[in-house]
Amino acid sequence: MTAPATSSRGSWATRAGFILAAIGSAVGLGNMWRFAYKASEGGGAAFVVVYIVFVLLVGMPLMTSEFVIGRLTQESPARALRRLGGSRWAPLGWLFVLCGLGILAYYSVIAGWTMRYAIDAVRNAIPSDTNAYFGQVATGWDAVGFHVAFMVLTIVVVAGGIKGGIERGNLIMMPLLFLILIGLAIWATTLPNGGPGYAYYLRPQLSAVFTRDTLTRAAGQSFFSLSLGMGALMTYASYLRSKTNLGREAMVVALADTGVAFTAGLIVFPLMFAFGLQDQITQIGESTVGALFITLPVGFEKLGRVGDYVDSIFFVMLFFAALTSAISLLEVVVAALVDGFQWTRKRAAWTAGAAIAALGIPAAFNTTFLGNMDLFVGNFLLIVGGFFTALFVGYKMLPQAKAELAQGMESIFTRNTWASLVRYVAPVVLLVVIVFLAKQSWDAFVGLVTFAR
Ligand code: TRP
Repeated sequence: MTAPATSSRGSWATRAGFILAAIGSAVGLGNMWRFAYKASEGGGAAFVVVYIVFVLLVGMPLMTSEFVIGRLTQESPARALRRLGGSRWAPLGWLFVLCGLGILAYYSVIAGWTMRYAIDAVRNAIPSDTNAYFGQVATGWDAVGFHVAFMVLTIVVVAGGIKGGIERGNLIMMPLLFLILIGLAIWATTLPNGGPGYAYYLRPQLSAVFTRDTLTRAAGQSFFSLSLGMGALMTYASYLRSKTNLGREAMVVALADTGVAFTAGLIVFPLMFAFGLQDQITQIGESTVGALFITLPVGFEKLGRVGDYVDSIFFVMLFFAALTSAISLLEVVVAALVDGFQWTRKRAAWTAGAAIAALGIPAAFNTTFLGNMDLFVGNFLLIVGGFFTALFVGYKMLPQAKAELAQGMESIFTRNTWASLVRYVAPVVLLVVIVFLAKQSWDAFVGLVTFAR
């Protein structure tokens, strides 16, 4: 139980640096498209309401828990869990690493599409047959090339260290992202015929609130969007030294993430409806990510010269969002190698990054495979990881966790509320979600292994 050599692991230079990096992790491709799509699928405003309740009752308490473990131990998740809970808990840390590898492998493929779109948008080279264009971009060697290029960028930032790489990268990219997002949302209000778009997005279909589907979708989406369930934010918090209020930090991150997701919907839907593209969403319904890449450029094109600028800005924003999230995914794997095997950060980043690049190649050839990775790892395993994290904090280390939280959080009432949510609410809700998701996740898993054969 000797204190680790924290100085050689690195740490954040400022509190804002940590928060911005955590927001950078949370805000990603998940917010820009997955959220809006899920909302439109699952009862509009009803989904938004269930989503927010889920974030408040399960997401924020779990995020706080991850922060607590990270700051308390100043170690990567697997070592932190072993130190606090004994070797029986170390496998949870390995599950986290597995999720990091698995999610980034396909996430980077989608991010590669984003890069390609951003570059072509700037060059004004997105053809009007966006369906064919997407087909060309999304799979095959083109996709592999951009996927690998994106991984290299991610590796370079992570290899640069906590302060000089990750903190600096977020400090530059995140403010730009916010500016672009707000600018686009304001611009979207000027679109002709946008009204029905807002109405469709936010239509209150209250009968959907209590359906099983809305719950599982809100749960999966919130975990993915908040970067929960795989120790990403735990890892980030392990570089945090200052004893600030972790509950408040979690609230800021969750608010920012939800705000961005919500605002992205305020851009995407008016744009689609303004150009009568809404029917295409359902046609391409199956590939949730594809729809964004196929329908939006059509809308942009119809805008003429304005569209030429706006589409570049939009895809550059998407690219920043993806990069700051990918960094946090890679960092989970890198931290495990640095702390566990005393590798240098550079070596860890390049080795893990190369492995992930290789792992993503099947997804770059087949969007069904990509979708299955998303369902099994990006949805199911995250919930499983969150379930065990709640059990760990709630039943294995609650006194220590409360003591750590007390450093910065003064209110006993808030601490006790947090403890009850982690002990009673989160495990029960997550177990229900796991049961609901079992069949779909099993099918996705079978899809993955049969392809591998
Ligand atoms: N939250 C990111 C998004 O919305 C994706 C992501 C980054 C993530 N790091 C994560 C998801 C860790 C789960 C766990 O796009």
